[in-house]
Formats: sequence, structure tokens, C-alpha cells
Amino acid sequence: MEYILEVLEVSKRFGGVVALNSVTLRIPRGLMTLLIGPNGSGKTTLINVVSGIYRPDGGRIVFDGSEIGGLPTHQIERRGLVRTFQIPQPFTRLTVFENLLTAYEHNRGESFAAAPLKRVWLEDEERAAEKASTVLRLIRLDHLWDQPAYKLSGGQMKLLEVGRALMSGAKMLMMDEPAAGINPALAHELFNHLRELNEKTGVTFLLIEHRLDIALQYVDRVYAMHLGRVIAEGRAEEVLSSTVVVESYLGG
Ligand SMILES: Nc1ncnc2c1ncn2[C@@H]1O[C@H](COP(=O)(O)OP(=O)(O)OP(=O)(O)O)[C@@H](O)[C@H]1O
Ligand SMILES: [Mg+2]
Repeated sequence: MEYILEVLEVSKRFGGVVALNSVTLRIPRGLMTLLIGPNGSGKTTLINVVSGIYRPDGGRIVFDGSEIGGLPTHQIERRGLVRTFQIPQPFTRLTVFENLLTAYEHNRGESFAAAPLKRVWLEDEERAAEKASTVLRLIRLDHLWDQPAYKLSGGQMKLLEVGRALMSGAKMLMMDEPAAGINPALAHELFNHLRELNEKTGVTFLLIEHRLDIALQYVDRVYAMHLGRVIAEGRAEEVLSSTVVVESYLGG
């Protein structure tokens, strides 16, 4: 298996709390991995450290062949590792299509900025619009392209966030409880869409979701955490049948 992300013996403490205790995990390229674990087990902290929101206290993080541990968020995103956040508030007034356009990664570089030709700028805008149309179909919001984002449902808003990440050139997406606050039927629909996106684009996913009955059937691999440590990994059936995982959920 080829890994797009390797987290190697990473630790993070907050005062006396050891949120991550020498955590090692390897995320296979092109697949969907689910991260589970009881409240306070360190799942969100892991994503925060990997995405550069917190600096790790120790260990290494390798993404797509290069070390990213300790880099600021924008540099990590530029390399194609994106954590989805809520759409920033000013953007909710923009349409769905405009939200995609504003997330476009130009990859212009110095030569572009210095280019005196208007033609180059126009070509770039055309490419952005083309890409936005493709992404719009992928996230299945084409029928809502001219609607302001604030009119979207919770699940549609999550898909728009994914769309913005794809526009920015993401190779891997990390989503912390994307279906939180969404009813079970729509949560299934959301996970189904994410699975379809994964299969069509090859983008790697790392997802956190509490409701195993909702998420498990859509993912390829599972990591389970408890008290800041990885306690199991493997295919869904393997992890679920692990005694330590069951006990951690029972408060053991
Ligand atoms: N910014 C912070 N400052 C202090 N302690 C923190 C901070 N962030 C997390 N923690 C602590 O680190 C531990 C792990 O928290 P984390 O949020 O990563 O757990 P989680 O697995 O995401 O839980 P949940 O399922 O409830 O979202 C907890 O004890 C938490 O209180
Ligand atoms: Mg959390």
C-alpha cells in the first residue's frame, strides 16, 4: 500500500493533558479512512496538529513525500492537504458558483504576476470557470449554482466546503464530524456523496464520525483511538471486532 500521509510517533500535550501520546498512523493514498474513538480520545487534536493549527511536541509528519510537521496551515494547504472548515461568513452571501471560484488555486507563480498580457489573465479566469463547472457537477450542486450559500442545507454546505477544497487543488481532505447535526438519512446521503467523490477524483479522505452505523460502510480503513493512543487499525470488521475498541467505548 502507498501512503499519502504518515504520522510518526507524534505527541501533543496541553498542560498536564497528553492529548496525543506517540501516535503513529499511515493513511493510504486514494482511499477513505475513518478515525473513531470515544470523547476526548484525541481525534480532533490529531487533525489540528496535522493541519498545522497546533505544533506537535514531538514526532514527524510526512505528506506526499515531504516533512510538514510544524509548518503553518497555509503552507500545508498549498501542498494539497486541506482540512475543511465552515464556509467563512462573508462567503455565505456569495453564490455557490462564486464560492468555488474564490477558492481557485491559480498556481500562477512569479512569472504570472509579472505577465503584462491581459490574455494570460483571461485564460486563467476561463480555466477557473471550467474547473468550477466540473466541481459543481461532482458535488452535485449544479442545480443550485446561482443560490447564495446561506440557503444550502447542512449537508449541501459540507459538499460546498469539499468543492472549495477541490478547487484549491487538494489531494487529501480531513473532515472532523462532517455529518454532525445532520439527521441519519441525510448523513448517509452525505457519506455516499463523499464516497462517490473519492472514487471519481481519487482524492484521499480522513474522516471523523461518532456514529459508526452511519460511517463504517463507506470507508476502506479504520483507525481507533483511546486516551491519546492508537488502539486498533485495519478494515472495518477487524477494528470493530477488536476487544480493546469495544471496551474503550464502554468506558474501559
Ligand atoms: N486547545 C486545548 N486546550 C486544552 N486541552 C485541549 C485542547 N484541545 C484538546 N484538549 C484536550 O485534549 C484531549 C483530546 O481532545 P480532542 O478534542 O482531541 O478529543 P476528540 O477525540 O476530538 O473528542 P470528541 O469526540 O469529543 O470530539 C481532551 O482531554 C481535551 O480536553
Ligand atoms: Mg473532536
